[in-house]
Formats: sequence, C-alpha cells, structure tokens
Amino acid sequence: MGISCVPLHPLFAAEVRGVDLREPLPPSTVAAIHEGMNRYGILVFHDQAMEPLRQREMTRQLGVLELGFGRVVAVHRDDARPPPRTGYAEVADISNLDAQGAPVERASRKTLGNLANQLWHSDSSFQKPSARYSLLLAVQLPSWGGDTEFCDMRAAYDALDPVLKAELEGLEAEHYALHSRILLGDDEYSEAAHSIFPPVTWPIVRTHPGSHRKLLFIGAHARRVLGMTVPEGRLLLMDLLEHATQPRFVHRHTWRPGDLVIWDNRCILHRGRRWDMSEPRELRRTTTADIDEAAAPAGAS
Ligand code: OGA
Ligand code: MN
Repeated sequence: MGISCVPLHPLFAAEVRGVDLREPLPPSTVAAIHEGMNRYGILVFHDQAMEPLRQREMTRQLGVLELGFGRVVAVHRDDARPPPRTGYAEVADISNLDAQGAPVERASRKTLGNLANQLWHSDSSFQKPSARYSLLLAVQLPSWGGDTEFCDMRAAYDALDPVLKAELEGLEAEHYALHSRILLGDDEYSEAAHSIFPPVTWPIVRTHPGSHRKLLFIGAHARRVLGMTVPEGRLLLMDLLEHATQPRFVHRHTWRPGDLVIWDNRCILHRGRRWDMSEPRELRRTTTADIDEAAAPAGAS
C-alpha cells in the first residue's frame, strides 16, 4: 500500500496513512518518510503502539541513533539516574512515572524535566551534533491537557521584516544544556555539572537541507547572542520566539494512545502543554543525531 500525507495545517504538518511502522520498512517507505519530513516538518502516524525495541529498530532505519538525554538529568545535584524505564538508553522515558509506574513527587527531578519540556525548544540544540528527528510515541495519557505543540521556523523566518532578516544574517546564538532549567529557577548545579555540557553556538539563521528554506534556529536552550550584551541578546531571542510562536505558525497535537509523531528539530520547535501531574502521562522518545551515516563514528548503532 502506498504512503499518503494528509496536511493538518496550512503551512506544515501532515498525517501519514498506509504505513505500519511496526513492520520493517522497505527502502521506498523510508524514502517517502524522509520526503514527507522535508516538506511537512512533522508527520503524525496513528495506531502504532510498539515495544521500545521496535521503536529503536525503526528509528535506526531513519538515521543514526542519539543516546538518551539522560545525561542532562544525571548531573543534577548528587542524584544518581535510575535506569531508564524503557530498558534502552536510546529510548527516552518521557513520563512522570517512577520505576513502579506511579506518578513521581511534584518536587522530583523528573517533574522538572517535564516542566522544561513545556518551553519551546529544539531537542539537543545544546550539543553538536544536535538532534535531527525526534520520534515520540504515546503510551498513557492524562484525562485533560498534555498536548504537544509544534512551530514551523521556516514559515516564521519567511514572515520576518526584511530589516530584521538583514540584521540577523551572520549572527550566532549560544545554546546551553542547563539554561532552560535555570530559566525555571532550578539553578543548584555544581561546577562539575556545568562543565559536562560546554555551550555550543549555532547561526540564528540556518538553511534546512531538506527543503532549502531558511529558518530561525532558536528556543529555550539559546541563552545569548554572540557580540551582544546578555540582556540585548536575550531580548532579541525572546522577540524572535514571540514572533515565531504566533498561532498561525503553530500546530497542536492532541494525543491518542499509539500515536507516533516525528518532527524535524532542524526546522521545528516544540513544547509540551500543561496537565495534572498527579495523573500518569507516558510517552517514549527516540532521536536521530543530525549527522549522516557516513559521518557516524565507527560502531555507532
Ligand atoms: C520531548 C518533548 C514534549 C511533550 O519529548 O522531547 O519535548 O509533550 N516532549 O512531552
Ligand atoms: Mn523535546
């Protein structure tokens, strides 16, 4: 059966029909998914409930796997990170649940990760390579809220004032792993923790290789603009984010169990939305690194 993409928004995002991600993907389907991703930036697949192992295998068919972002959590104060609930380091547990499957304490470290996910961001923009695709699978959902929103940074760039476009040309922003947490007031990190993730810089205006369109590469990990004072740079970043996240550039996904959504972190920002954290919410995320196979370190899975 052929794959078909049904647009969900005037500018980006489509629902894919005719693909079962639980079966090994023929090369023609892999190619069609990349093509759909390049055009729509986010693809939604329904009824794809699968085990973590299958999600890892399927993601491997789409690129080079990134290890879970647990490293960020591991350096938090002196807590040790529990083994991932999914059983695989490459399958991140995006949930508010403890090892027994019960919602964690409000004040826990894990809650903080969920809260930081509610700020607009591009996954792993704080490291090189950053993330290419994120694949998020819904397992358990709360009775209210907990949607995920997506924003097309190509459309946002296109709509910028030409004067601002010219001003942004050549500017770079510094992205830092702990910045979104510090923004939320979680700032008790040791020197050792800070040193694990050296900040990285990315141009604010980049070209999306898959669509050859320019885009704004910003989000909650961006903490300053090179060559500007911190306040001036931060205000510019806040202004750009406010412009980019206008409702006309945003698509909201309301989850059903078994939904799998893929987004391209190179041109899409995302954020989770509020829910009552005393109710379980469980999703699982796999991620590909923004490198091509040929550039992957030998032995990379
Ligand atoms: C993520 C993320 C948002 C959500 O998994 O990378 O930001 O709605 N998730 O859970
Ligand atoms: Mn994320």
